[in-house]
Amino acid sequence: MSTGAPRSAADKPDHQRPEHPDFWCKRFAEGTTPWDAGGVPPEFAAFAARQPAPLATLIPGCGSAWEAAHLARLGWQVTALDFSAEAVARARTLLGDAAVDLACADFFTWQPIRTPELLYERAFLCALPRKLWDDWGRRVADLLPPGGLLAGYFFVCDQVKGPPFGILADQLDALLAPAFKRIEDAAAKDSIAAFAGRERWQVWQRR
Ligand SMILES: C[S@@+](CC[C@H](N)C(=O)[O-])C[C@H]1O[C@@H](n2cnc3c(N)ncnc32)[C@H](O)[C@@H]1O
Repeated sequence: MSTGAPRSAADKPDHQRPEHPDFWCKRFAEGTTPWDAGGVPPEFAAFAARQPAPLATLIPGCGSAWEAAHLARLGWQVTALDFSAEAVARARTLLGDAAVDLACADFFTWQPIRTPELLYERAFLCALPRKLWDDWGRRVADLLPPGGLLAGYFFVCDQVKGPPFGILADQLDALLAPAFKRIEDAAAKDSIAAFAGRERWQVWQRR
């Protein structure tokens, strides 16, 4: 019998809860992936090209893993992880025999074998419900050593309903500034429709 009371997020089925792998598995399985850039975004390609030496890189929430494939082609050591088995299957197909350490794992509980020098962010933070943002901030700070880099794309806007969940500039600063110094910040040049005009390329250095 229905009480007529509004359903809380916890009452929703798993495939409607973005904090659950089933949400993403359903979308990958259906081919509904409007966040997928279908390649490597230009600021990140330029960033990788200008590094004097390869950086051991971690890509959480890698989805199709276009960037992991690119970095592996450059000879970088890359770990890509995603908690959706469907996403990992798609990444595996795309990666072929590329030398990428690909894991099906939850970013918040996964244990690294080696310390990353670079953590790449694209459409991962904005995929997380806001209640997980503080955990994300702590986790990226814990994973990177002093001098390590967090680089990528942030969905900076006031879009409440998501995913993608928009983050305000002040909120992003509050999450990262205690442990990081921002060293690059620019409007993304070639965003796909889902993020157009609201995406920033940023690089943060671990203090
Ligand atoms: C919007 S998609 C972005 C995928 C990819 N970064 C891209 O740019 O195309 C978000 C991805 O994060 C993954 N994800 C969400 N929460 C996760 C978690 N706690 N641990 C690992 N992966 C997670 C989802 O399965 C999904 O593949």
